[in-house]
Amino acid sequence: MKPKEILVFGASGQIGRHLVRKLTKNNYKVLAVTRNIHQKGYILKTQANPGYLEMLELKSLNYEDVTNLFQNCEKVINLIGILFEKKNNEFNKIHEFFPHMLSEISKKNKIKQFIHISSLGIDEVKDSKYAISKQQGEKKVRENFENAVIIKPSIVYSVDDNFTTRFMTLLNHSPIMPLYYEGKTKFAPIHVSDLANIIFNVIDQNILSSTIECTGPEILSFKDIIKQLLNSINKKRLLIPIPLSFAKLSASILQMFPNPLITRDQLNLLKYDNIPSGKLQTNNDLGFEANKKFKSEIDKYSFNWRTGGQYSKKTSSTTN
Ligand SMILES: NC(=O)c1ccc[n+]([C@@H]2O[C@H](COP(=O)([O-])OP(=O)(O)OC[C@H]3O[C@@H](n4cnc5c(N)ncnc54)[C@H](OP(=O)(O)O)[C@@H]3O)[C@@H](O)[C@H]2O)c1
Repeated sequence: MKPKEILVFGASGQIGRHLVRKLTKNNYKVLAVTRNIHQKGYILKTQANPGYLEMLELKSLNYEDVTNLFQNCEKVINLIGILFEKKNNEFNKIHEFFPHMLSEISKKNKIKQFIHISSLGIDEVKDSKYAISKQQGEKKVRENFENAVIIKPSIVYSVDDNFTTRFMTLLNHSPIMPLYYEGKTKFAPIHVSDLANIIFNVIDQNILSSTIECTGPEILSFKDIIKQLLNSINKKRLLIPIPLSFAKLSASILQMFPNPLITRDQLNLLKYDNIPSGKLQTNNDLGFEANKKFKSEIDKYSFNWRTGGQYSKKTSSTTN
C-alpha cells in the first residue's frame, strides 16, 4: 500500500520527532521541513525506516518557498514554535504570521487536513507576548482554514525536553529553588509520546474542525513538580517563595543569557494556570487518553542527574 504523504513543519522538535516516528511506523510518508538538514538530519533520519521520510530544507519562511513545498501531500501540520525571542525569531513572526501564511497556502492548495499546534492556558492572558502571539495565530488559522484542527497542549515533557531536564540540572547545582507565585500555578503535564499518539489519532481518524485541549492525567502545581523532580534525583533543596519584584529582577537578568531559564514574558505567563479551561473539547472527550504519570516517567531518565548516575542507589526523599 502506497504511504500517505504528510508535510510536517517543526518536525525536528521534541513533539515533531515523536510524531514522525509514530506516523512513519503507520504507513505515512513524512516530508519533514527543517531550516538546516546538516544539523537536524541525524535526529530526524533515525525516526523512520528508509523510504518513509524525506527532509526538506527551508532557510526562511517566505510565501514562495513554502508554497513550493506543497507537492502531493494531503495533510499539513505546523509544530513550529519558540519559547523566547532572539534577534529576528520573534513571537509574532513565528506564532502569528507563519500560521497565517501556512493556513492560507494550505487552503489554496486544497489540503484536506490542516493541524496547528498552539498552547493551553493562553486564552485569557493579556500580558505575555508569547500568549498573545499564540492567540492571534489560532485566530488567523481559523479564519483562513475553517476546518483546521487546533491542538493546545499543557506542558510537554520527556527525556528530550527543555523543561524537566533543565530543572533537574538547576536543582542538581543550586542549593535553593525559587518558587514564583509561591509555586501555586497549576499544570497538567503530558508525556510527549501520549501527545504524539493523540495527534496521530487526529490525523489517522481524519478529525476536522476542532480545537482540542491536551492534558496528562494529573494536575500538579509548580511546587509539586519541583518536589517530584527533587525526589526523583534524590536531592533535598530549599524551596523559597520569592517576592514578585525580585522575580522580575532575576528574570530580567536571566533573559540576557543565550538560552534563558526564564524570561520576563515567561514569568508573566506563569501567573496563569495551565489546565483545561472547561470551555473546549479535551483529548479525553475524544477518547484519546493520556495515561503516563509524571513521576513514573521522570524516574526512567532522572538517574542522569542523581549522584552516582546509573550506579546511584535510589532512596526515597522528600523536601519541604
Ligand atoms: N513543549 C511544550 O511544552 C509545549 C507546550 C505547549 C505548546 N507547545 C507548542 O508545540 C509546538 C512544538 O513544540 P516543541 O516542544 O516540539 O518545540 P521545539 O522542540 O522547540 O521545536 C520547535 C521547532 O520549531 C522550528 N523552528 C524554531 N524556530 C524556527 C524558525 N525561525 N523558522 C523555522 N522553524 C523554526 C525548529 O525547526 P528546525 O530547527 O529544524 O528548523 C523546531 O523543529 C510549538 O508550537 C510549541 O509552542 C509546546
